[in-house]
Amino acid sequence: MHLTVLFIFLFLTVANTTFQHPFRYQVPFTSTNDDQQKPSNSYQFKWPIRKIAIIGAGAGGLVTYREFARMGYEVRIFERDSVPGGNWHYTDEVPLNAPVPNLDLSEADFQPHLPPENVVLPYEESFVGLEPSAVSEARRAHRAPKPIWHSLTSTAPKLRELPWPEHTPLTLTQNHLQRYVRTFASLHQINSNDNNPNTSYNTRVERVDKRYDANGKEAGWSLTLRKFIETGPSSYKIQWWTEEFDAIVVASGRFSAPNLPRIPGLAQWAQLYPHLISHSRQYRRPEEFTNQTVLVVGGSVSGTEIAEDLSGKAKKVFLSIRPHEDSVFRETRNMYLSRVPKNVSIVPEIKFFHPLPIRPTDENFGIGVGEIELINGTLLRGFDRIIFATGFRYAFPFLPQYHNASLRSNETIPAGSGRPQPLITDGTHIRSLHLDSFYIEEPTIGFINMNLGIESFMYSEFAASAIAKVWAGEAKLPSTQEMWDQHWQRVIDAGGAYGGQFMYLGSAKEAALVRYIIGWLNEDAVKYGGHQVSHTSLDIS
Ligand SMILES: Cc1cc2nc3c(=O)[nH]c(=O)nc-3n(C[C@H](O)[C@H](O)[C@H](O)COP(=O)(O)OP(=O)(O)OC[C@H]3O[C@@H](n4cnc5c(N)ncnc54)[C@H](O)[C@@H]3O)c2cc1C
Ligand SMILES: NC(=O)c1ccc[n+]([C@@H]2O[C@H](COP(=O)([O-])OP(=O)(O)OC[C@H]3O[C@@H](n4cnc5c(N)ncnc54)[C@H](OP(=O)(O)O)[C@@H]3O)[C@@H](O)[C@H]2O)c1
Repeated sequence: MHLTVLFIFLFLTVANTTFQHPFRYQVPFTSTNDDQQKPSNSYQFKWPIRKIAIIGAGAGGLVTYREFARMGYEVRIFERDSVPGGNWHYTDEVPLNAPVPNLDLSEADFQPHLPPENVVLPYEESFVGLEPSAVSEARRAHRAPKPIWHSLTSTAPKLRELPWPEHTPLTLTQNHLQRYVRTFASLHQINSNDNNPNTSYNTRVERVDKRYDANGKEAGWSLTLRKFIETGPSSYKIQWWTEEFDAIVVASGRFSAPNLPRIPGLAQWAQLYPHLISHSRQYRRPEEFTNQTVLVVGGSVSGTEIAEDLSGKAKKVFLSIRPHEDSVFRETRNMYLSRVPKNVSIVPEIKFFHPLPIRPTDENFGIGVGEIELINGTLLRGFDRIIFATGFRYAFPFLPQYHNASLRSNETIPAGSGRPQPLITDGTHIRSLHLDSFYIEEPTIGFINMNLGIESFMYSEFAASAIAKVWAGEAKLPSTQEMWDQHWQRVIDAGGAYGGQFMYLGSAKEAALVRYIIGWLNEDAVKYGGHQVSHTSLDIS
């Protein structure tokens, strides 16, 4: 049956589907005879897996490195930033302006910058005599400063190997987390100052291509890598090279491709005043908004926290939100909104940005003269700045072959077309994963921390363990057909279509998934060898 037909059928039946089995596809093994997986029914890898590339040195990538290294794999970790820490590497340096309207997803996080055609790799280009701003722009485009702000706090997420000291407060600053993640990197000698040959910092993965052997058989992956080296205040150089691997773990995070809503008139405002209209990823400190009137758009965690942060310094803060009564996010969003200070005015969604004068004069300069129409017809004006805290999109610019923007959230590629089911379509989700970690079309690509509503530090420990054990043959994946069957069931359970709702786990489902992974890995360890995984300890010697 064509997948599209199957999908439509599943979609139509979903109205009658209850949520009695919220994680029905992940039924823990019960050790009955029926459950005994025969190796012949399991997925067979096409080539042996020994050499691994990890993309990203955030908490997820670092934990993944630890798992693979201690299982004896040859492993390399590539990080576009200069230090480990991922999201938790706070800098006053801000990301580049978020494009309005949104860029195509294949370049929404970054535009891959490949070496010129026909050059022999490794290849190097030097750029000298530049304005410092040009060096800064090149550096920022390459490393992508992270989307966190100075006053951001977090409850203490934990890596089990590194307990927080006793009496650590429940709420920690971003700086605590930054140091915590770096400490973990140092513990495993993969911090940027360890000069470990298995790490490559300042190195962005530009492309991941399938590799073929001399007989034309698939044999693994080739990574095209780009290193940024700042050689002085007015110069830098770029090095490109390729490296070959048997398998790839994508731990590149999910918060770097900004989402700007399509609101009529916004593009003109952003084009005329790009420095006055920004995305939450650029927000750093409230001081630069002192005595300004600021409109924050988006009523989730970033929007509400930024509105609160601004409220002590700005002249006036407005927060534009849209209803979320039917959403799985309802409870959390209501909780965030309940914390917004009383002096922040909450207003409905924006319908229209009325055109600004194209040739501004001294009297009508800036966005303050422009009118913003809300969906209830109210007109607002007089803003000095607008911050869009409207979230992020899933995008993997280094895997463009698995992006397909033409599919809607309830569409799939017809079976038998010879084309793979993509990973990325409209950016609201990542699809086609088994157990949220293995790309079903090509399970030598693994993913870490792609869901929403998870404790990513803790979750990455189990996801990394599962990927490392499967690739070592110590745990088996079911057949490709079985993985798809489970995947379609997952879509049904999530409401019948892909999207943000599909990505959201929340603590109960996350716990169920982790329990399932532990049960599966430990049962397979009995059958196929290897260490047992435990909830409480990572000691596996
Ligand atoms: C504003 C904000 C607040 C948050 N607060 C919390 C919180 O309080 N608690 C919590 O648990 N989680 C929080 N999170 C979620 C946060 O993403 C996780 O805590 C954690 O950072 C996830 O780790 P990760 O390794 O999966 O991804 P990341 O930390 O995002 O790391 C990904 C790494 O991959 C690198 N990378 C990306 N692309 C490439 C490439 N092509 N080549 C090489 N390297 C690449 C990036 O530079 C980055 O270092 C927050 C997120 C945001 C945006
Ligand atoms: N302290 C912390 O722990 C902390 C702080 C900040 C962020 N974070 C993390 O960062 C992640 C990203 O959070 P985020 O808040 O940046 O993004 P987000 O959770 O994706 O929220 C984006 C919000 O913008 C809204 N939106 C989109 N278009 C809009 C429009 N035109 N008008 C009004 N609202 C609009 C969305 O509404 P719809 O849902 O209707 O699309 C949603 O409420 C979260 O998963 C969270 O874990 C954590």
